Amino acid sequence: MKPILIAHRGASGYLPEHTLPAVVAAHVMGADYIEQDIVLSRDAIPLVLHDIYLETTTDVAVKFPGRNRSDGRFYAVDFDLEEIKTLSVHERVKPSGTAVFEGRFPVVDMALRVPTLAEEITLITGLNRSRHGSAGYYVEMKAPAFHWDAGLDIAAITLEVLSQAGLNTRDAPVFLQCFDPSTLRYLKNELRTPLPLIQLIGENDWNDPPGIDFEALRTDHGLQEIAGFAKGIGPWIPQLFEEDGVTPGRLVGAAHDHGLLVHTYTLRADNLEAGFQTFEGLQTGVFSGANVDGVFSDFPDLTRQFIDAMGR
Ligand code: G3P
Ligand code: CA
Repeated sequence: MKPILIAHRGASGYLPEHTLPAVVAAHVMGADYIEQDIVLSRDAIPLVLHDIYLETTTDVAVKFPGRNRSDGRFYAVDFDLEEIKTLSVHERVKPSGTAVFEGRFPVVDMALRVPTLAEEITLITGLNRSRHGSAGYYVEMKAPAFHWDAGLDIAAITLEVLSQAGLNTRDAPVFLQCFDPSTLRYLKNELRTPLPLIQLIGENDWNDPPGIDFEALRTDHGLQEIAGFAKGIGPWIPQLFEEDGVTPGRLVGAAHDHGLLVHTYTLRADNLEAGFQTFEGLQTGVFSGANVDGVFSDFPDLTRQFIDAMGR
């Protein structure tokens, strides 16, 4: 089986992440799935936005001065959708205001908006029709505990939007992903979604979300537990390899032994993982060396080309 290509935040290597142009580009570049990170607005609308903060990718600090919390940050959950729709989305920036990825789209105001999940579903559905395509949705619920503390059930609210679009069915082209295993259990056992679930795996020292033992999830016992509620895992690329960064490790084989798919993140042609000198070498290591079933890529055109040339 050919591995699947998931466009990470759209074609984010070329256009500001999670904007509708980035989605269109990802579709044209042949992504099998397009990723949506979900954060809620104050009025409980699922936004396609990576951070729970707005200042990293929008002009919120200019448009709403003083609406930050005491930590200086502007939280999406403190704004209604109507307010968020007045913001202009730009390429991701550091706190200093300079671009995170220097060679990418410039940090300019193109009057791009933060899309809602519903809008993005309408766009992808439309493109699938007009381009005779079948791109799916790869939806991540961000920071469920943070939303819960704000009185919002991000899992139920996200699922409701998918249901309204007819996408909460066994054969819908959708994966649901989350770093928080308790949210995935909740989705399966209480919300009873038939959609395949992916347990994302980070590093313990990221502390994001706090309190999750990702080391334990990567053990045989952890993988066995995950197999009880999820269809697969989403490890960070370095977790596929031994300490040298290039020799394939045991994780993918162990996950496969438990019947789990492995969709790894994130291929970036302009930010190679340690140990790899070229993007070609990195893609070879991930697909042919580590033998993953899918990958998140910021550069869907380059990854499409690579997968199609593999001949699997
Ligand atoms: O969801 C897979 C990958 O996107 C996880 O990392 O931080 O880019 O959402 P992040
Ligand atoms: Ca994500």
